[in-house]
Amino acid sequence: MANPRDIESAGDGAKRVSRRSFIKGVIGSGIAVSSANYLFRTSTLLQGQQPAVGGERLITLNVNGQQRRVDVMKQETLRYKLGLTGTKLGCDRAECGACTVLIDDVPHYSCSVLTHTVRGKRVQTIEGLARPDGTLHPVQQGVLDEQGFQCAFCTSGFIMATVGYLKTNPNPTRDELAHGISGNLCRCQDYDKILTAMMRGAEIMRSAENVRKVNHA
Ligand code: FES
Ligand code: FES
Repeated sequence: MANPRDIESAGDGAKRVSRRSFIKGVIGSGIAVSSANYLFRTSTLLQGQQPAVGGERLITLNVNGQQRRVDVMKQETLRYKLGLTGTKLGCDRAECGACTVLIDDVPHYSCSVLTHTVRGKRVQTIEGLARPDGTLHPVQQGVLDEQGFQCAFCTSGFIMATVGYLKTNPNPTRDELAHGISGNLCRCQDYDKILTAMMRGAEIMRSAENVRKVNHA
């Protein structure tokens, strides 16, 4: 029987996409929301190419485990050079957390981090959470299980903030987690559901870790 949450958006006999699959795309890769304002300027250069504009310089970034060569301006912030649309731009002034990424496992607002300052550090975005075979990160799975979103614009930021927080406290109380991710805002104000989803993610993560320990005992 069809899941009642799978409310299909029908369009004149054209392709039918369930809301659940649409959101799954957002949570998994962040590719679904694309307006011109949110597109990143891809600036990866091939080896040996020179930066086109004076004042830019070529640096190597470690993004989602891959070495990326990008040309950056000194004053340019991290969010604009990743070319990964899962990282959303909300306020662009370090207030909302929609742009959260992990730098060396610590959540940061990427709209406010100068790109050249992350050389030699590990940057992880929402696109780098799922396994290569497509298995979602436990926190992503928790969001799907609990449908912890309305428009989902804030979701990738909340997921990254939660993943970062759980690295320091894998078994938080609801209050602790709420405090831990309080730097993220939801314009839909769906906080209770978001928190339930993140707590579910933490639970899945602990179960997976216990299974891993048993298998390696
Ligand atoms: S867009 Fe970076 S904190 Fe809001
Ligand atoms: S679900 Fe809409 S901004 Fe959070």
